Amino acid sequence: MSRQTAIPLRERNIILIGFMGAGKTTIGQLVAKKLYRDFIDVDAEIERRHGMSIPEMFAQKGEAYFRQVERELIVDLCTNTRLKILSLGGGAYLQEDVRRVCLAHGIVFFLDLSWDYWKEERLPLIVDSRPVLKNKTLEEVEQLFFQRQSAYALHHSRVIVNELEAEQAADQIVESIKWTWDVYEPNR
Ligand code: S3P
Repeated sequence: MSRQTAIPLRERNIILIGFMGAGKTTIGQLVAKKLYRDFIDVDAEIERRHGMSIPEMFAQKGEAYFRQVERELIVDLCTNTRLKILSLGGGAYLQEDVRRVCLAHGIVFFLDLSWDYWKEERLPLIVDSRPVLKNKTLEEVEQLFFQRQSAYALHHSRVIVNELEAEQAADQIVESIKWTWDVYEPNR
């Protein structure tokens, strides 16, 4: 059995998960600002460390390589950092190791949105920049959207972001997190 002491809730990383285009980066930046914390976008961090964009990495090294890099970085961030706001790429949470470390060491918020809203409002904005959407029919993208929901269902808290401004979603997360801190760690 691990002898590691559990990380106090107030020090845990706050981790945003959800489908592509749910607003994880924008909302994560706002949450970080409101809580005076550092923000790390996992995809941007991968791009910085490897000196290539995610689409370039998919094209030159393949998706399996990207998934390994993504998993290793998230495991490292979850086990070796605290007090951060992390936003994960939409496919990262499909990996069991990623779910395990996020749930064990962080507080996981699922940014949920409906298929209809996503298809109308978000898909047109990201369709050309996300390699996993490339060469897929709308039916295949819909399948991917619903296939992923069972992984996203493993979270600590959920925010329905349909129709919400990023600022409102960030406020909901901050309110929820402060409530959690106050209820479960009132004397810290
Ligand atoms: C992916 C989502 C992307 C990025 C990569 C793969 C996915 O991140 O990690 O293109 O499989 O859903 P966003 O969720 O920020 O678009």
